[in-house]
Amino acid sequence: MNPALNLLHPYPFEKLRALFADVTPAADKSPIALSIGEPKHASPDFVAQTLADNLAQLAVYPTTAGLPALRESIARWAERRFALGDNGLNAETQVLPVNGTREALFAFTQALINREQADALVLSPNPFYQIYEGAALLAGAQPHYLPCTAEHGFNPDFSAVPAEIWQRCQLLFICSPGNPTGAVVPSETLKQLIALADQYDFVIASDECYSELYFDEAAPPVGLLQACAELGRTDYARCVAFHSLSKRSNLPGLRSGFVAGDAAILKQFLRYRTYHGCAMPVASQLASIAAWGDEAHVKENRDLYRAKFDAVLEILAPVLDIQRPDAGFYLWPRTPISDTDFARRLYQAEHVTVVPGSYLSREVDGNNPGANRVRMALVAPLAECIEAAQRIRRFVESL
Ligand SMILES: Cc1ncc(COP(=O)(O)O)c(C=O)c1O
Repeated sequence: MNPALNLLHPYPFEKLRALFADVTPAADKSPIALSIGEPKHASPDFVAQTLADNLAQLAVYPTTAGLPALRESIARWAERRFALGDNGLNAETQVLPVNGTREALFAFTQALINREQADALVLSPNPFYQIYEGAALLAGAQPHYLPCTAEHGFNPDFSAVPAEIWQRCQLLFICSPGNPTGAVVPSETLKQLIALADQYDFVIASDECYSELYFDEAAPPVGLLQACAELGRTDYARCVAFHSLSKRSNLPGLRSGFVAGDAAILKQFLRYRTYHGCAMPVASQLASIAAWGDEAHVKENRDLYRAKFDAVLEILAPVLDIQRPDAGFYLWPRTPISDTDFARRLYQAEHVTVVPGSYLSREVDGNNPGANRVRMALVAPLAECIEAAQRIRRFVESL
């Protein structure tokens, strides 16, 4: 077998199971999971209906590049959302449908990394979505972690990265809005990164799967393609953005998203994907067209999250060091005791599950930037989020 498989770290949920193995949670309390980042709001009926109406398409093989109509609908959506201008994104050459961003982030790394460079690095935020690391390791590159701390607005301090690291970097992952921190990488920083990508010849993969979950309707998070367009770079050279219907439209089971950006890179990525065999079923493509074409359900989705953040922050802010994130559906508070003790004792006392921050980050030079923080996903219904917040508050007050 591929020896690199042995380099893969256990997934955070495996570690969580081990942490809770000998703990008996309070039997009189119903379990509440704030641990899993799975959207729980209802999927839009019109998307489900489109899927159902097109089941006859199960009889045809889909193409890897997807239907032209799907790529068109994605291109027009991205142009509207990121102010790319009319025909700012070429549906033929600058867009590819993918079966969710997880699959795409992984596959993209395999297609991109040049294994002939023995010391190749894949840079990623720390804490981070674990797929970036696993993808790098299986592609034969070494992950290099950039700490995201409160002192730097929960984004990496890119100015602190030495030239020697940029020289070895083949791929830079950014996650904006971030999981778990919720931080958005500012436009100015994106533009500096684009300049660095030119200078050191690396590719930027921007995971923007939480980009549609924001609080201020007048100020949606900026995206990498938008920063390119503002620089007049509508060839999006060295830049690719990853988007998904999972969080935006509550369709994690549809497995639908897209990659958009640099045409030369996407051409090779399409070639890779043809062999990889990951074409999206036609019925899913048609349902995706319906989803990308509607914003009303996305606005309703944001309203639901906004109400939950308002309620939960009101309960927890008096007792925890906790902030409203820039965007996304996670809270990332500092814990008054170690993050693992906090998660374990909270589970025992209140039957509420949160993820220790240190399980989402790697220790570098004795420092784990996720230590003494926990991740709480506000995916449950409002009443359950409020109940969880009240239990967490009671627990914190008991410490
Ligand atoms: C940061 C981040 N990227 C990508 C994904 C994958 O999402 P999907 O494959 O459903 O698009 C997730 C899912 O939780 C995530 O948190």
